[in-house]
Amino acid sequence: MDLPPPIHKVRGGSSPSVLVTGGAGYIGAHVCKALFEAGYRPVAYDDLSAGNELAAKWGPLVVGDINDPSALRAAFELHQPIAVMHLAAVCSVTESVANPQKYERINVLGTRNVLQAMADVGIDTIIYSSSAAVYGDSPGNSLDETATLAPANPYGQSKLEGEQLLAAFETSDKLRWVALRYFNVAGGDTDCLHGGGYRPENNLIPLVLDVVKGKNKDLPVFGDDYATRDGTCVRDFVHVSDIASAHLAALRHLEFGARGKIFNLGSEQGYSVREVINSVEEVTGLAVPWRVEKRRPGDLPNVVANAALARELLGWKPRYESLEAIVASAWDWHRAKTGKA
Ligand SMILES: NC(=O)c1ccc[n+]([C@@H]2O[C@H](COP(=O)([O-])OP(=O)(O)OC[C@H]3O[C@@H](n4cnc5c(N)ncnc54)[C@H](O)[C@@H]3O)[C@@H](O)[C@H]2O)c1
Repeated sequence: MDLPPPIHKVRGGSSPSVLVTGGAGYIGAHVCKALFEAGYRPVAYDDLSAGNELAAKWGPLVVGDINDPSALRAAFELHQPIAVMHLAAVCSVTESVANPQKYERINVLGTRNVLQAMADVGIDTIIYSSSAAVYGDSPGNSLDETATLAPANPYGQSKLEGEQLLAAFETSDKLRWVALRYFNVAGGDTDCLHGGGYRPENNLIPLVLDVVKGKNKDLPVFGDDYATRDGTCVRDFVHVSDIASAHLAALRHLEFGARGKIFNLGSEQGYSVREVINSVEEVTGLAVPWRVEKRRPGDLPNVVANAALARELLGWKPRYESLEAIVASAWDWHRAKTGKA
């Protein structure tokens, strides 16, 4: 059983609009919900290549490609957003290694198009979805925003080039921007109709849940010989609703006159793949069969955030503090979606 159709919650013309590219995607839908609840009118702009039309229920949906400059300009002119939150992107590390040109075209050229269309119609405020994938390895240490930038794959490189475009447009077009470097976004909100699952899944927690649900018979664990506490890769998981609230905090930050800042968004705690499997088994009470495969190109052993800057300057603090709470919310979302206990 699928979730019931959404009741569209469209705010009237007096609420300030914010255009969210990728607003029908996993994180974009949660960002739109947070904007709606804060009194904004979110306008989702999405080509639905990986998004879910039903998830764009918090305001109007414009079906369009960020690589179509005239469609972008038309959406800006029609909806007159006070700001853009730019999340539309392709985001699979594995696919980016196989097809780097696609990542250059959608993530880099697409970002340039968004910035150029904003400049053409006079919108000066953007919050950009960046990623921890811009960093290189940092054995055992957490990463702050000054850590070495050395993307290990074309996806990370494309996100970094997007950040560099922000700086270039700041100089030429007086752009006010924030880039948010998300770590591993996870969890769900049963109100959002999007907890992942509308594109080939890349993220660990939904992949483990796919095994629990019997969609896949076991979980491939890529490498168990890394220099980590149990040999599997360590990642920092942050709840998608906490990522959404950071976008509001970033918008306020820009409204108060700040500009040109990059913030890490992570829980500041690292969990290994084995620990995530254990947590899913504890939360669901079901076994997760797994098997070891060889390392994947482009995977780093240890990626954990230092998010002190976001805490200090944005006043941001994740509400979901434990891995168990994040896993439980993802499990709730999947059970609500399928109607299965
Ligand atoms: N999920 C994570 O853990 C994570 C971590 C770091 C950064 N990010 C970034 O967050 C953003 C959102 O990621 P997500 O996990 O929600 O992915 P997602 O695939 O669910 O969302 C991306 C959305 O962009 C849309 N889109 C793709 N190409 C488009 C195009 N050419 N024109 C218009 N729309 C297009 C898709 O249809 C989709 O709805 C991305 O920029 C991603 O790089 C995600």
